[in-house]
Amino acid sequence: MKLWGGRFTKETNQLVHNFNASLSFDQKFYKQDIRGSIAHVTMLAKQGIITEADKEAIIGGLNSILADIENGTLEFTNEHEDIHSFVEAHLIDRIGEPGKKLHTGRSRNDQVALDMKLYVRDEVVELNDLLKTLLESLIKVMEENTETYMPGFTHLQKAQPVTLAHHFGAYFEMFKRDRSRLTDIYNRMNYSPIGSGALAGTTYPLDREYTASLLDFAGATLNSMDSVSDRDYIIELMSALSTIMMHLSRFCEEIIIWNSNEYRFVNIDDSYSTGSSIMPQKKNPDIAELVRGKTGRVYGALTSILTTMKGLPLAYNKDMQEDKEFTFDAIDTTKGCIALFTGMIDTMTFNKENMESSAKNGFTNATDAADYLVNHGVAFRDAHGIVGQLVLFCESKGISLDDMTLDEFKAISPVFEEDIYEAISLKTCVEKRLTLGGPGKEMMDKVIAINKEYLANN
Ligand code: ARG
Repeated sequence: MKLWGGRFTKETNQLVHNFNASLSFDQKFYKQDIRGSIAHVTMLAKQGIITEADKEAIIGGLNSILADIENGTLEFTNEHEDIHSFVEAHLIDRIGEPGKKLHTGRSRNDQVALDMKLYVRDEVVELNDLLKTLLESLIKVMEENTETYMPGFTHLQKAQPVTLAHHFGAYFEMFKRDRSRLTDIYNRMNYSPIGSGALAGTTYPLDREYTASLLDFAGATLNSMDSVSDRDYIIELMSALSTIMMHLSRFCEEIIIWNSNEYRFVNIDDSYSTGSSIMPQKKNPDIAELVRGKTGRVYGALTSILTTMKGLPLAYNKDMQEDKEFTFDAIDTTKGCIALFTGMIDTMTFNKENMESSAKNGFTNATDAADYLVNHGVAFRDAHGIVGQLVLFCESKGISLDDMTLDEFKAISPVFEEDIYEAISLKTCVEKRLTLGGPGKEMMDKVIAINKEYLANN
């Protein structure tokens, strides 16, 4: 059944019908569509626009449709253009005359704007919860590893020693910001568009604020043309999801490197690895690679919606129907990736000795050797040069700074004394870094406490 057959004399060409239809994908928000309709008719009855009896009949019909979709007895069939037409046609089929009053004072333009917002709003909450679970996994690793030393890198070259807690803590901050972005999006989008009509409101005495409150919105939107054509929140969400995926893919890249034969910092659990069909020895980090790879899909969704919206005149245009498939895909992809990534972290083991010996062998304490000289009156630039000579000497002999004899130290600079060994030990290097946000245990414990507090309250 068509909602708009009245003024047409010819049947729609089948290809045109298929091209125009969105039911194959907008069926995804049948629940939100029905919820929105129930709120709408509740408001219509309160305003005396339809009778209480019609309202009851409509709500009963809508609930039976909802139940039948969920128990599988009502299937989505192709003759319906979209979810709105589908629900209305079945409603009229089931309850007759009162069903024809459902669409009073409403257009599919404000209806779809509402459905999409309700759907996205629910998903934002789920995404936020999934990120919280990930943060809980990260903080657990952090608490257990404030003294697990490892090299920190710049340019993927060993730079200065840090701890596993500190490294994970960096991602904790990223995902925490991701959650706050989701919260911002939720709060900004949380205004109801329903009652805006096709574009110019309606002449019925609707109570838009009431419908908004029935649907748990913070209020109703203030311009009907904007209401039916605003897709900013989708763009914002795609951007936030792209950032989440970017963070996940950076983390995955590091885990892939750490899991490689050369590093052996971590072991990805068997349950999160796959084998090779030809090479019997292989255990591949496919999950981490796939999460990294799926980032491209989510970026694609952002580019797609930005491009679709570019240059659209007010108000509703059919182009906007293209806001859905990529958005759904990006949401489902990101949710799946966060969940799988969390499982991978939960089951991963850490080779602490390998991390520590890697930090020892890469001159990650060279800055501290220079600082030692500075503390003994040498200018930093000169100290930098002296330690450069130490590194050159060590490299020629294949040893680390800690392996040098005091005589060898003194041959390069007489300032060095026995306490140099203590000053450049891995533990000292890390534990002295107590600036706010630094890796030293004392500071790390404070930051972990702050973040546990955050998790308890958010
Ligand atoms: N399926 C449409 C969409 O997703 C619903 C709105 C249709 N409105 C219209 N005037 N054709 O955007």
